[in-house]
Amino acid sequence: MISVLFVCLGNICRSPMAEAVMRHQVEEAELSTHIQVDSAGTGDWHIGHSPHEGTRQMLDQVRISYAGMKARQVEENDFTNFTYIVCMDENNERNVMAWKGAHDRTAEVLRFMSLLPEEPITDVPDPYYTGNFDEVYRLVSEGCKQLLAKIVREHHLSV
Ligand code: 4NP
Repeated sequence: MISVLFVCLGNICRSPMAEAVMRHQVEEAELSTHIQVDSAGTGDWHIGHSPHEGTRQMLDQVRISYAGMKARQVEENDFTNFTYIVCMDENNERNVMAWKGAHDRTAEVLRFMSLLPEEPITDVPDPYYTGNFDEVYRLVSEGCKQLLAKIVREHHLSV
């Protein structure tokens, strides 16, 4: 099984949106038996919470399910259990890399915006502060398409 973990700070705004959108795209491509999707936060403040109201409203608007999703924190096992760990911003990536350490941790860590090199920004803006969930959705849906294409290519999946 190929697996993707999206990581942001609180695991209530950006990474749950990416998780829901990616899972939806994986289902549409009929690749659910090959690709598993999850999300987590570097912080612990929102453990057990549902996605933020702004993320839920955005996903409702585009009819993408977030049923049963609850925030959790990044944990030790994630670095060996996941194929890809996709960080929503530079801070998240710095924390994840520090946590990952040097030993036998197999996950490939990447920055979400590296999937969209034509965009003039390197971090997915945090809507917890900006309130702009539409912008996050646009970036997330485009980036997830690119991530899915990368996975299909790297694992020789047929679509
Ligand atoms: P997220 O946004 O990292 O996209 O989930 C945030 C959520 C909560 C907080 C910060 C960012 N917080 O400080 O509680």
